[in-house]
Amino acid sequence: MMKAELQKAFNKQINEELFSAYLYAAMVNFFEGKNLKGFANWMRAQTVEELNHANKLIGYLHERGADVKLDAIAKPTATWKNTLSAFEAAYKHECHITACINKLHALATKVNDPAAVIFLNWFVSEQVEEEANADEIVQQLKLAGDAPGPLFMLNRELGARMPVFTADPEAE
Ligand SMILES: [Fe+2]
Ligand SMILES: [Fe+2]
Repeated sequence: MMKAELQKAFNKQINEELFSAYLYAAMVNFFEGKNLKGFANWMRAQTVEELNHANKLIGYLHERGADVKLDAIAKPTATWKNTLSAFEAAYKHECHITACINKLHALATKVNDPAAVIFLNWFVSEQVEEEANADEIVQQLKLAGDAPGPLFMLNRELGARMPVFTADPEAE
């Protein structure tokens, strides 16, 4: 049986992942409003990925016979100064999620739940990818500056990202 303290922390992480999906959905709206369909598409795929993360945590709690308690999801920011600011916010958010995952991982270690530690190892690795993906786009946007050509090309490139909705996020 999973300790109550750890169950509570897992439930908090479910809320963090659902908020992440909500934040990226707000970014979809922001880019759709600017007719930047490629950036919107990347954010849409990101939304789906965050739902996968939430579902993975929910599935794990059920597997452990633990209680899933869904809390209210906070209202996300709806607008950003420009494309770079939005992606910088996405990167900053991923760094926050990494800190949450690391804290949860440390708690699972502290309460001596090796199964939870092994399960959370996947999220630790996933966050390395999540930070790197967002940061790569931030760096590309910085290089592009205000030049419309590179921005248009990047918008088109990100339009190719396909959302993967899966019950098994390890297949991502
Ligand atoms: Fe996530
Ligand atoms: Fe993420």
